[in-house]
Amino acid sequence: MMRSEARGAAGEGKLAVVSGGSGGIGREIARAVARRGYRTVLIARREEELRCVVQELGRWAPSTAVAVDLSSRRDLGDLSELLRELGAVDVLVNCAGHGLYKPFLECTPEELHGLMLVHYFAAAALVHAVLPSMLARGGGHVINIGSMSAKMGPWGHSGYAAAKAALASLTETLAAEHQGSGVHFSIVHPGLVDTPFFAHPPLDRLRERFERRLVAPERVARAVTALLDRPRLQVCVPRAYRVTDVLAAVSPALLHHLVARSSRPTPRPARRP
Ligand SMILES: NC(=O)c1ccc[n+]([C@@H]2O[C@H](COP(=O)([O-])OP(=O)(O)OC[C@H]3O[C@@H](n4cnc5c(N)ncnc54)[C@H](OP(=O)(O)O)[C@@H]3O)[C@@H](O)[C@H]2O)c1
Repeated sequence: MMRSEARGAAGEGKLAVVSGGSGGIGREIARAVARRGYRTVLIARREEELRCVVQELGRWAPSTAVAVDLSSRRDLGDLSELLRELGAVDVLVNCAGHGLYKPFLECTPEELHGLMLVHYFAAAALVHAVLPSMLARGGGHVINIGSMSAKMGPWGHSGYAAAKAALASLTETLAAEHQGSGVHFSIVHPGLVDTPFFAHPPLDRLRERFERRLVAPERVARAVTALLDRPRLQVCVPRAYRVTDVLAAVSPALLHHLVARSSRPTPRPARRP
């Protein structure tokens, strides 16, 4: 585990912890909160990328990084201890994660377990670490980055969508348990976002197929900062995807049919000899 300046940074102003801050959506969220003057603690594995982001965020507010693998029990234990020591975390954004796009029977138990570890157990552990201090201060905000797939169960998403559904359920339960405490809980469900998430096969095929539906990661970051101004339990990005809730209520079978059909990979065109 690499620690850089994390201990000394908790002195002034508001503090945001952003997991997945080394790239993609998490980096945009970190930029957006830093622009608002939040000091940030970034969490991810790649030290060099973290350093670059820390340097960039320094333009707006002091930032630090902790390089950990959230799927490692030991790293997670060390990080939780560090966050407890930091104390006054105002905002926790659980954004770190990876995808998996293949049929259930082709997924290994390790792959399924790994998804649950990062998307659910690590997020839960970080909430465990920061929530007591938020409750003691009567304020704070936990924002979890979910996925539209958690609402729909698309083809090839048995591990990923299930892990995101667990995260969404955790968010709802925390909100129910802490109503009136001053601490807010939100789940943000992005659709398809243009990030390195799709850089590896077979996820690159999903990107190819839905290229026109991709939104910029800045859009998710804007949704997160909007939540800081006006806390809500759930938002979809783009907002138009809220229509799935209506469809799920009116005709779950139709929603299932549409999603199952559109998420199945199309065969690649055969190469000409
Ligand atoms: N892109 C989309 O279309 C989309 C849609 C819905 C939801 N999401 C969710 O949005 C979040 C961010 O995804 P993204 O699109 O920004 O993907 P990304 O560009 O691949 O970024 C993923 C981030 O998570 C970090 N991370 C992954 N595994 C980690 C681990 N074991 N320990 C610590 N950090 C880890 C990565 O950092 P390191 O590699 O440096 O560790 C990176 O900062 C994920 O939770 C993803 O499921 C994405």
